Amino acid sequence: MPRAAALIVLCCLVAAPPLRAQESYLAWQADNLAIEAPLGGLRGDAARGRAIAASRDKGNCISCHMLPIPEEPMHGTLAPPLFGVGARLSAGELRLRVVDEKVVNPETIMPAFYGDPARYYRPHPEFAATILTAQEVEDVVAYLVTLQ
Ligand code: HEC
Repeated sequence: MPRAAALIVLCCLVAAPPLRAQESYLAWQADNLAIEAPLGGLRGDAARGRAIAASRDKGNCISCHMLPIPEEPMHGTLAPPLFGVGARLSAGELRLRVVDEKVVNPETIMPAFYGDPARYYRPHPEFAATILTAQEVEDVVAYLVTLQ
């Protein structure tokens, strides 16, 4: 490679802002108000899902919902408590609610955590189109299933 070209490539690499690793969006389909198949066939981890539900900069589910996470203060009361939600809803129904509650209730204030990027445009380039990754969604679903 000519030296000038190599220099340009090097400069671009150095000057490029650190991009958040963005996975490509995995399309999903809802049937009977449920998404039966795990996103990308991924297997969720309930312990990781609990941490995501509690974290203020990830799922932040506790800003609206009460959850059995006693070490975190200030659970929200804007939404129904999620105690026992794994007994009320199937894994597929839970998945759709985490992925995009607006399919269930277009008026809801709950954000779509894995909404179709064609529907939900997030203007700031720093943020991925989806709030959670497919793996994080599956982790949260695995956690919700344990809430019996
Ligand atoms: C901004 C507030 C808000 C946040 C944040 C939020 N939700 Fe919700 N969620 C709601 C509301 C309100 C409802 C009630 C149904 C509706 O509005 O459609 C709901 C409904 C649900 C339901 C269905 C409950 C049922 O009994 O039918 C589940 C499951 C759920 N949320 C899980 C979560 C999880 C998991 C997170 C975090 C990843 C989360 N929510 C974050 C507001 C929120």
